Amino acid sequence: MEYIGIDLGTSSVKLLRMAADGTVVRTVSRSYPLSMPRTGWAEQDPEDWWRATVDGMAELLAGADPAQIGAVSFGGQMHGLVALDRDGRVVRPAILWNDGRTGRETAWLNGTVGREKLAAYTGNIAFAGFTAPKLLWLRANEPEHFGRIARILLPKDYLTYRMTGICATDCSDASGTLLLDVAHRRWSPEMADLCGVDTAWLPELHESADVVGTLLPEAAAALGLPETVRVVAGAGDNAAAAVGTGTVRDGACNVSLGTSGTVFIASDAFRLPDNHALHSFAHATGRWHLMGCILSAAACNQWWAGDILRAADFAAEQAGFVPGGTNPVLFAPYLMGERTPHNDPDARGAFVGLSLDTTRAQLTQAVLEGVTFALRDSVELARGLGLTVPRTRICGGGAKSPAWRQITADILRMPVESIAVEEGPGLGAAMLAAVACGEYADAAEAADAIVRVSSVTEPDMAAADRYDAAYARFRRLYPAVRSVLAD
Ligand code: XUL
Repeated sequence: MEYIGIDLGTSSVKLLRMAADGTVVRTVSRSYPLSMPRTGWAEQDPEDWWRATVDGMAELLAGADPAQIGAVSFGGQMHGLVALDRDGRVVRPAILWNDGRTGRETAWLNGTVGREKLAAYTGNIAFAGFTAPKLLWLRANEPEHFGRIARILLPKDYLTYRMTGICATDCSDASGTLLLDVAHRRWSPEMADLCGVDTAWLPELHESADVVGTLLPEAAAALGLPETVRVVAGAGDNAAAAVGTGTVRDGACNVSLGTSGTVFIASDAFRLPDNHALHSFAHATGRWHLMGCILSAAACNQWWAGDILRAADFAAEQAGFVPGGTNPVLFAPYLMGERTPHNDPDARGAFVGLSLDTTRAQLTQAVLEGVTFALRDSVELARGLGLTVPRTRICGGGAKSPAWRQITADILRMPVESIAVEEGPGLGAAMLAAVACGEYADAAEAADAIVRVSSVTEPDMAAADRYDAAYARFRRLYPAVRSVLAD
């Protein structure tokens, strides 16, 4: 049998076909627009996700025997609010994970309801990108839309809905709603009540490798698959990527350099960190993880090298880098506000330390270094909780750059392991589909059988020491830029 993993990202959907032994047979991607109706807002049309998935599937299945496809599953951009009316129609465009419109609602949740109460109900405090503050925003600002809601879904769950007609999600993705009691892996009626959410709106809750259903006749026809194909719940993209990089055992770490950047640390037990700075979420393995998330990682490089420099070849832009922590330029990567550690949707980016001899390469290098310093903030939070993070795996578009991998090893002061198949969430999703069909006992067994480290980037300790000094300066950037931009 073969298995399909669908990585529903922010810029594109990536589809992957995997043989039962983990061999990747084919990958296909289709992009879609991101709408930014105001600075700091981010929306997408769920119909675009479905259209792109259907369109990509035809190419993914070229040369395949559809009768050999056992199941499909997902890794999806997290936190997005997809609201359906009672006829199953999308009420308004989805509000995404990196949308910063909910500053007021987040402050109300953390301040008035109180961080300790939220943490007791959910294991987490409120961050602007989470789903619950979006529901509060909708209730206050678009009551006509809020009043039509009959179901709420996360982005990947909309694909499940179109495929099966069933409203379902999984615990890892549900963790990012702030409506889940993460410790007990069940919806929190208290949180639903606080946010004016009717519990009947909430999707049925599954573990990631659970079968939700099979394909509706119209979905099977559109996708070119038999109706018997199983649709498996899947995971939030970070938990799916963790499966795809073999980050499944207690203490294992994965860094993702995608549109967002994350530091994901698997944990056998549920943990409730005192300061709630890291997210405490369910893992796709049935266990848990801690995670820090920065809102603009490879997105900063895309903005700088792509939109501003109009570089055709990002690798060529990195050819002039001077390794080793001597760059006089610092970059604050807060282009969409920031989640970890600042929880500030109004944070903004900056270059600091420019002079007449600053070069294009220094600026480009500063962008990658600034993103990596921001990820170090999450690693430091984990270290502050007493966790040792001796090494990490890496995935996402940025992980393809050897220069960025070296910067990551140096700034985080740890070996960085690259995976033979650089398809984190898509591969993890296909692995979950295979687990659901009994090819492997669980995600950990699938990871042991499938995931291979292809190379290790060791930190250069002299560079790491110089980067330590630069990191101390970086830590002063956020409050300084914040005070310059404050009214
Ligand atoms: C995680 C997060 C992002 C998105 C990106 O909390 O918001 O990593 O999942 O797709």
